Amino acid sequence: MTTALVTGAGRGLGRHFAAELLARGATVYAGARDPGTLDLPGARPVALDITDPDAVAAAAALAGDVDLLVNNAGISTGAQLLGDLEGVRAEMDVNLWGTLSMVRAFAPVLAANGGGTVVNVASALSWFSAPGAGAYAVSKAANWNMSNALRLELAAQGTQVTSVHLGLADTDMARGVQGPKTDPAVVVRRTLDAVEAGELEVVVDAWSAMVKASLAGDPRAFYARFLPA
Ligand SMILES: NC(=O)c1ccc[n+]([C@@H]2O[C@H](COP(=O)([O-])OP(=O)(O)OC[C@H]3O[C@@H](n4cnc5c(N)ncnc54)[C@H](OP(=O)(O)O)[C@@H]3O)[C@@H](O)[C@H]2O)c1
Repeated sequence: MTTALVTGAGRGLGRHFAAELLARGATVYAGARDPGTLDLPGARPVALDITDPDAVAAAAALAGDVDLLVNNAGISTGAQLLGDLEGVRAEMDVNLWGTLSMVRAFAPVLAANGGGTVVNVASALSWFSAPGAGAYAVSKAANWNMSNALRLELAAQGTQVTSVHLGLADTDMARGVQGPKTDPAVVVRRTLDAVEAGELEVVVDAWSAMVKASLAGDPRAFYARFLPA
């Protein structure tokens, strides 16, 4: 009986989230900056740029029956912390502030519908950084701890907050990046199964599990792979 809203549903993981939720019998609002790009029969298209406060408010007013919010929309531009500051801000605008504005707008909706669930798609890069991923890693670290904080702030209204962490998935975002890539359909199935089981964190792949475990160790050991000898 779930009614879900998925951000960034036009392509990549978001499209898979929407399609899998439809296949599981959910009612699905599919958010896209350009709803004309949506190819999801059965979904309800919503024009939604998560960095546009008016669009976010309109989505919350339109989709008042939502009990599952999937904050999937994200960008990875390669912005460096010591490079163009506008590029750094853009990553934060989508991956942190836009995502937070969605939760702020939909928190009352979720409360009115029994509590529900927020899924925030973070990254393995919440837990480490890599060359070329400086701004993205900061934004996804913030996204992860935002989930932890929101879990506490939303506990009283019974809202589950689940954070999702993966290395590489085979989407546009990872095009040109070398390394093993998980099938987006697998990412989505693992995530939705974990959400249904009430899990608060989804560690999708072996790389994510390894970097999470590495936090207990000496950073020199982990970062030796990136630093000059
Ligand atoms: N692919 C990976 O290897 C990987 C790994 C770890 C985490 N992730 C995370 O997984 C999520 C999905 O990524 P993906 O791999 O599916 O990337 P993708 O193929 O590049 O798709 C990104 C999606 O986000 C949407 N989007 C971007 N900015 C937006 C905005 N301001 N408002 C609304 N929608 C916006 C895009 O919409 P448009 O079509 O309008 O651009 C697109 O639908 C992201 O949060 C990403 O950081 C991905």
